[in-house]
Amino acid sequence: MRRPIIAGNWKMNMTPSQTRRLIAELKPLISDEDCDVVICPPSCCLQAAAEALEGSSIRLGAQNVHWEKSGAFTGEVSTDMLKELNVEFVIVGHSERRQYFAETDITVNKRARAAIAAGLTPIICVGESLAERESGKTESVVSLQTEKALEGMTKQEAAHIVLAYEPIWAIGTGRTATSDQANETIAVIREKVRRLYGSAADDVRIQYGGSMKPGNATELMAMSEIDGGLIGGASIKASDFAAIVHYNK
Ligand code: PGA
Repeated sequence: MRRPIIAGNWKMNMTPSQTRRLIAELKPLISDEDCDVVICPPSCCLQAAAEALEGSSIRLGAQNVHWEKSGAFTGEVSTDMLKELNVEFVIVGHSERRQYFAETDITVNKRARAAIAAGLTPIICVGESLAERESGKTESVVSLQTEKALEGMTKQEAAHIVLAYEPIWAIGTGRTATSDQANETIAVIREKVRRLYGSAADDVRIQYGGSMKPGNATELMAMSEIDGGLIGGASIKASDFAAIVHYNK
Protein backbone atom coordinates (compact mmCIF):
# COMPACT_ATOMS: atom_id res chain seq x y z
CA MET A 1 0.00 0.00 0.00
CA ARG A 2 1.32 3.41 -0.95
CA ARG A 3 0.88 6.07 1.71
CA PRO A 4 -0.87 9.06 0.11
CA ILE A 5 1.02 12.34 -0.02
CA ILE A 6 -0.66 15.74 -0.16
CA ALA A 7 1.71 18.61 -0.94
CA GLY A 8 1.01 22.33 -1.06
CA ASN A 9 2.83 24.29 -3.74
CA TRP A 10 2.66 27.87 -2.53
CA LYS A 11 4.30 29.14 -5.72
CA MET A 12 5.34 32.83 -5.48
CA ASN A 13 3.01 33.63 -2.61
CA MET A 14 3.55 34.51 1.06
CA THR A 15 6.28 36.52 2.77
CA PRO A 16 8.12 35.11 5.81
CA SER A 17 5.68 36.74 8.25
CA GLN A 18 2.69 35.54 6.22
CA THR A 19 4.29 32.08 6.20
CA ARG A 20 4.39 32.07 10.00
CA ARG A 21 0.76 33.14 10.18
CA LEU A 22 -0.47 30.56 7.67
CA ILE A 23 1.38 27.73 9.41
CA ALA A 24 0.02 28.86 12.79
CA GLU A 25 -3.49 28.62 11.30
CA LEU A 26 -2.77 25.29 9.65
CA LYS A 27 -1.16 23.41 12.53
CA PRO A 28 -4.27 22.95 14.71
CA LEU A 29 -6.30 21.92 11.66
CA ILE A 30 -3.99 19.05 10.70
CA SER A 31 -4.08 16.00 12.95
CA ASP A 32 -4.72 12.28 12.62
CA GLU A 33 -4.12 12.52 8.92
CA ASP A 34 -3.81 9.32 6.90
CA CYS A 35 -1.29 10.78 4.50
CA ASP A 36 2.05 12.55 4.38
CA VAL A 37 1.54 16.30 4.37
CA VAL A 38 4.11 18.63 2.82
CA ILE A 39 4.17 22.38 2.26
CA CYS A 40 6.47 24.02 -0.26
CA PRO A 41 6.86 27.74 0.45
CA PRO A 42 9.16 30.06 -1.54
CA SER A 43 12.89 29.73 -0.77
CA CYS A 44 13.04 32.92 1.29
CA CYS A 45 10.30 31.59 3.58
CA LEU A 46 11.81 28.17 4.27
CA GLN A 47 13.60 29.29 7.43
CA ALA A 48 10.42 30.83 8.85
CA ALA A 49 8.48 27.72 7.83
CA ALA A 50 11.01 25.34 9.39
CA GLU A 51 10.76 27.21 12.70
CA ALA A 52 6.97 27.50 12.60
CA LEU A 53 6.55 23.80 11.77
CA GLU A 54 8.32 22.59 14.89
CA GLY A 55 6.21 20.01 16.69
CA SER A 56 4.01 19.44 13.64
CA SER A 57 3.70 16.40 11.38
CA ILE A 58 3.69 18.71 8.36
CA ARG A 59 6.92 18.34 6.40
CA LEU A 60 8.82 20.89 4.43
CA GLY A 61 9.49 21.03 0.71
CA ALA A 62 11.15 23.54 -1.60
CA GLN A 63 10.14 24.64 -5.09
CA ASN A 64 13.51 24.31 -6.79
CA VAL A 65 17.05 22.98 -6.34
CA HIS A 66 20.21 23.18 -8.41
CA TRP A 67 22.32 20.17 -9.33
CA GLU A 68 25.72 21.67 -8.42
CA LYS A 69 26.84 21.70 -4.79
CA SER A 70 27.67 25.43 -4.83
CA GLY A 71 29.14 28.10 -7.07
CA ALA A 72 28.34 30.82 -9.56
CA PHE A 73 24.66 30.07 -10.22
CA THR A 74 22.87 33.31 -9.42
CA GLY A 75 19.36 32.82 -8.12
CA GLU A 76 19.63 29.09 -7.51
CA VAL A 77 19.58 27.09 -4.25
CA SER A 78 21.66 24.02 -3.39
CA THR A 79 20.78 20.77 -1.66
CA ASP A 80 22.97 21.72 1.33
CA MET A 81 21.10 25.00 1.77
CA LEU A 82 17.77 23.16 1.76
CA LYS A 83 18.87 20.38 4.06
CA GLU A 84 20.12 22.80 6.69
CA LEU A 85 16.55 24.16 6.80
CA ASN A 86 14.99 20.71 7.40
CA VAL A 87 13.69 20.53 3.85
CA GLU A 88 12.88 16.93 2.83
CA PHE A 89 11.09 17.35 -0.50
CA VAL A 90 11.62 19.47 -3.58
CA ILE A 91 9.30 20.14 -6.53
CA VAL A 92 11.12 19.63 -9.82
CA GLY A 93 9.92 20.22 -13.36
CA HIS A 94 6.72 22.09 -12.59
CA SER A 95 5.11 23.22 -15.83
CA GLU A 96 5.53 26.86 -14.79
CA ARG A 97 9.30 26.27 -14.55
CA ARG A 98 9.26 24.51 -17.92
CA GLN A 99 7.10 27.22 -19.52
CA TYR A 100 8.54 30.44 -18.08
CA PHE A 101 12.07 29.55 -16.96
CA ALA A 102 13.39 27.34 -19.73
CA GLU A 103 13.37 24.18 -17.62
CA THR A 104 13.98 21.20 -19.90
CA ASP A 105 13.76 17.43 -19.51
CA ILE A 106 17.55 17.47 -19.12
CA THR A 107 17.62 20.03 -16.28
CA VAL A 108 14.65 18.33 -14.63
CA ASN A 109 16.65 15.10 -14.62
CA LYS A 110 19.75 16.82 -13.21
CA ARG A 111 17.80 18.52 -10.44
CA ALA A 112 15.93 15.33 -9.53
CA ARG A 113 19.10 13.25 -9.39
CA ALA A 114 20.95 15.84 -7.32
CA ALA A 115 18.02 15.90 -4.89
CA ILE A 116 18.06 12.11 -4.54
CA ALA A 117 21.84 12.00 -4.12
CA ALA A 118 21.48 14.48 -1.24
CA GLY A 119 18.72 12.48 0.44
CA LEU A 120 15.89 14.81 -0.63
CA THR A 121 12.75 13.44 -2.26
CA PRO A 122 11.99 15.08 -5.61
CA ILE A 123 8.35 15.64 -6.55
CA ILE A 124 8.75 15.43 -10.30
CA CYS A 125 5.98 17.03 -12.35
CA VAL A 126 4.85 15.89 -15.79
CA GLY A 127 1.81 16.85 -17.80
CA GLU A 128 0.45 17.67 -21.23
CA SER A 129 -0.81 20.95 -22.68
CA LEU A 130 -4.38 21.36 -23.91
CA ALA A 131 -3.22 21.19 -27.55
CA GLU A 132 -1.36 17.94 -26.80
CA ARG A 133 -4.41 16.42 -25.12
CA GLU A 134 -6.72 17.47 -27.92
CA SER A 135 -4.42 15.98 -30.54
CA GLY A 136 -4.24 12.65 -28.73
CA LYS A 137 -0.64 13.03 -27.56
CA THR A 138 -1.19 12.86 -23.79
CA GLU A 139 0.18 9.34 -23.36
CA SER A 140 3.30 9.89 -25.44
CA VAL A 141 4.04 13.28 -23.82
CA VAL A 142 3.78 12.10 -20.21
CA SER A 143 5.60 8.84 -20.97
CA LEU A 144 8.53 10.66 -22.55
CA GLN A 145 8.71 13.28 -19.79
CA THR A 146 8.72 10.50 -17.20
CA GLU A 147 11.41 8.52 -18.98
CA LYS A 148 13.66 11.56 -19.40
CA ALA A 149 13.17 12.73 -15.81
CA LEU A 150 14.19 9.32 -14.45
CA GLU A 151 17.10 8.69 -16.81
CA GLY A 152 20.11 7.27 -14.98
CA MET A 153 18.29 6.52 -11.71
CA THR A 154 18.71 3.13 -10.12
CA LYS A 155 15.67 1.03 -9.21
CA GLN A 156 16.13 1.91 -5.52
CA GLU A 157 16.28 5.60 -6.34
CA ALA A 158 13.26 5.43 -8.60
CA ALA A 159 11.22 3.72 -5.87
CA HIS A 160 11.61 6.75 -3.62
CA ILE A 161 10.64 9.56 -5.93
CA VAL A 162 7.22 11.16 -6.02
CA LEU A 163 5.70 11.94 -9.41
CA ALA A 164 2.96 14.50 -9.98
CA TYR A 165 0.70 14.33 -13.00
CA GLU A 166 -0.39 17.89 -13.67
CA PRO A 167 -2.26 18.51 -16.93
CA ILE A 168 -1.22 22.06 -17.80
CA TRP A 169 -4.75 22.98 -18.83
CA ALA A 170 -6.01 22.20 -15.32
CA ILE A 171 -3.48 24.28 -13.37
CA GLY A 172 -4.94 27.40 -11.84
CA THR A 173 -7.81 27.34 -14.32
CA GLY A 174 -10.52 25.85 -12.15
CA ARG A 175 -10.78 23.16 -14.80
CA THR A 176 -9.98 19.82 -13.14
CA ALA A 177 -9.24 16.65 -15.05
CA THR A 178 -12.06 14.22 -14.39
CA SER A 179 -11.13 11.53 -11.92
CA ASP A 180 -11.17 9.01 -14.79
CA GLN A 181 -8.88 11.16 -16.96
CA ALA A 182 -6.46 11.65 -14.07
CA ASN A 183 -6.54 7.97 -13.14
CA GLU A 184 -5.99 6.80 -16.72
CA THR A 185 -3.04 9.09 -17.32
CA ILE A 186 -1.45 8.22 -14.01
CA ALA A 187 -1.79 4.56 -14.97
CA VAL A 188 0.12 5.36 -18.16
CA ILE A 189 2.88 7.02 -16.12
CA ARG A 190 3.04 4.05 -13.73
CA GLU A 191 3.24 1.67 -16.69
CA LYS A 192 6.22 3.63 -18.02
CA VAL A 193 7.92 3.35 -14.61
CA ARG A 194 7.14 -0.38 -14.63
CA ARG A 195 8.74 -0.83 -18.03
CA LEU A 196 11.85 0.92 -16.76
CA TYR A 197 12.05 -0.41 -13.20
CA GLY A 198 9.70 -3.37 -12.85
CA SER A 199 8.12 -3.77 -9.43
CA ALA A 200 9.49 -0.42 -8.17
CA ALA A 201 6.49 1.06 -10.00
CA ASP A 202 4.27 -0.28 -7.22
CA ASP A 203 6.12 1.86 -4.66
CA VAL A 204 6.25 5.13 -6.58
CA ARG A 205 3.65 7.57 -5.38
CA ILE A 206 1.97 9.51 -8.16
CA GLN A 207 -0.02 12.62 -7.29
CA TYR A 208 -2.63 14.43 -9.29
CA GLY A 209 -2.35 18.22 -9.51
CA GLY A 210 -4.48 20.86 -11.18
CA SER A 211 -7.34 22.71 -9.45
CA MET A 212 -7.63 20.11 -6.69
CA LYS A 213 -9.93 21.49 -4.00
CA PRO A 214 -11.95 20.32 -0.99
CA GLY A 215 -14.91 19.71 -3.32
CA ASN A 216 -13.14 17.27 -5.65
CA ALA A 217 -10.33 15.83 -3.49
CA THR A 218 -12.37 12.93 -2.10
CA GLU A 219 -13.37 11.70 -5.54
CA LEU A 220 -9.89 12.09 -7.00
CA MET A 221 -8.22 10.43 -4.02
CA ALA A 222 -10.58 7.45 -4.26
CA MET A 223 -9.12 6.49 -7.64
CA SER A 224 -6.89 3.43 -7.62
CA GLU A 225 -3.86 5.06 -9.23
CA ILE A 226 -3.97 8.46 -7.52
CA ASP A 227 -1.68 8.54 -4.49
CA GLY A 228 -2.00 12.15 -3.52
CA GLY A 229 -2.32 15.71 -4.65
CA LEU A 230 -0.10 18.63 -5.53
CA ILE A 231 -2.17 21.61 -4.54
CA GLY A 232 -1.55 25.16 -5.73
CA GLY A 233 -4.22 27.79 -5.08
CA ALA A 234 -6.05 25.87 -2.36
CA SER A 235 -2.82 25.27 -0.41
CA ILE A 236 -2.54 28.88 0.75
CA LYS A 237 -5.94 28.82 2.43
CA ALA A 238 -5.56 26.94 5.70
CA SER A 239 -9.13 25.60 5.84
CA ASP A 240 -9.08 24.43 2.21
CA PHE A 241 -5.71 22.74 2.51
CA ALA A 242 -6.73 21.04 5.77
CA ALA A 243 -9.98 19.85 4.15
CA ILE A 244 -8.00 18.30 1.30
CA VAL A 245 -5.59 16.64 3.74
CA HIS A 246 -8.64 15.15 5.48
CA TYR A 247 -10.21 14.06 2.16
CA ASN A 248 -11.27 10.74 3.70
CA LYS A 249 -12.92 12.13 6.84
P1 PGA B 1 -3.56 24.65 -8.76
O1 PGA B 1 -1.99 24.40 -8.98
O2 PGA B 1 -3.99 23.74 -7.66
O3 PGA B 1 -3.66 26.12 -8.39
O4 PGA B 1 -4.25 24.35 -10.05
C1 PGA B 1 -1.45 23.13 -8.94
C2 PGA B 1 0.04 23.20 -9.23
O5 PGA B 1 0.42 23.98 -10.10
O6 PGA B 1 0.85 22.51 -8.60
